[in-house]
Amino acid sequence: MCGASVRVRVEPVAALRGDLAVPGDKSISHRVLLIGAIAEGETEIEGFGASEDTLATAGAVRALGVNVEIDGDRARVGGVGLHGLRLPQEPLDCGNAGTLMRLLAGILAGHGGRFELVGDESLSRRPLDRIAEPLREMGAQVETTDGHAPLLLQGGGLEPIRYELPVASAQVKSCVLLAGLYAARGHTSVVEPAPTRDHTERLLEAAGARLARIGRREIGIWPAERLAPLEVAIPGDFSSAAPFLAAATLLPGSSLRLHGVGINPTRTGFLAVLERMGARIAVFNRRSAGGEPVADLEAAPAELVATAIRPEEVPLLVDELPLFALVAGMARGQSVVRGAQELRVKESDRLEAVRSLLRPLGVRIETTRDGFKVRGVPARPRGGGTVDAHGDHRIAILAAVAGAVSREGVSITGADSVGVSFPGFFEMLDSLAVR
Ligand code: S3P
Repeated sequence: MCGASVRVRVEPVAALRGDLAVPGDKSISHRVLLIGAIAEGETEIEGFGASEDTLATAGAVRALGVNVEIDGDRARVGGVGLHGLRLPQEPLDCGNAGTLMRLLAGILAGHGGRFELVGDESLSRRPLDRIAEPLREMGAQVETTDGHAPLLLQGGGLEPIRYELPVASAQVKSCVLLAGLYAARGHTSVVEPAPTRDHTERLLEAAGARLARIGRREIGIWPAERLAPLEVAIPGDFSSAAPFLAAATLLPGSSLRLHGVGINPTRTGFLAVLERMGARIAVFNRRSAGGEPVADLEAAPAELVATAIRPEEVPLLVDELPLFALVAGMARGQSVVRGAQELRVKESDRLEAVRSLLRPLGVRIETTRDGFKVRGVPARPRGGGTVDAHGDHRIAILAAVAGAVSREGVSITGADSVGVSFPGFFEMLDSLAVR
């Protein structure tokens, strides 16, 4: 995406007040399109989170001969069955979406024919060996470009494997599980070093696939003859709720109510961390939608104390760690994050991006090999000046929250990158702001 084109100024905010509903979960939206594509018949989706990333998935699935209709937050996928995908005319463009490239590779590994997957500049810097290795072990031919995209894949004839993930990654786990649907003669299993988001497992079970959890760390999948189409109401994305939870906690006088947010425990590590720092976030109206736990959340301001994040916790708040750095900067005492080296291979090197964004604003943060340390003070950071989003949606959103809670505000270059996960983010922030 075009990194530095759009500049947005975020002025300091006194408080955030009101009600909001964030867009549908991005991880689940990708997965429903992909699994819907290989199911037999029409998948119906409510609460689809349309963003640049999920629209890339819709585009890739269409290029494989699947009809996808999107109308606001409703979508329909005309599933063609496990073996019904068509060979595309051109390389499949995954844009900025790591989830798309890694999950789709798992599905295509089960197909004969040669597929090429390409991505934008940021995605082409991200590691693919982590999926190439298990797919090769299963019998697919996979070529990367020095461990990166473009990815060439020739699949078919897969064998089941038991795969110990070298990194805790839901994308890699999902890739292997999806390939496992096509591995004849037995079950494929994945062992995780620490639990990661389990949306793929939930959706595949809802589509009738046979899965088995073995303890907290291992999951097995059996080859499927067919998948049933889904009827899913996708909950609000916890990762899109997180910036509002952080800002309302940090701004005295705030009162926010967030409706219909997904609270899958493999996603809500940030909530648990905020709570142990002293935040006041109420979780109520607990219910279930689309096979996922959902609730309304109410956030009020609080004074926070520092905390330490352990390596096993990291996958549960992996996308919220940039926001954690800011929150820690306004909490009393020294906070530490360890075991978060994965942040270096996200849409940007998020450890360096967070440091280079927050330090000039007055946050005392230092990075380490696998995390960061923050010396917090319970006061607004100075702010001021211009910061760059590094072409990364989560960094643009961090910059906006930092500007809102600062004394002088910030200007953000490359602010348009929010569109990757949350196209209306700035408008929503503005509509809740009390100045
Ligand atoms: C995602 C998994 C996480 C996360 C990403 C979305 C997913 O990546 O950072 O934004 O939808 O599976 P990893 O699984 O590689 O850590």
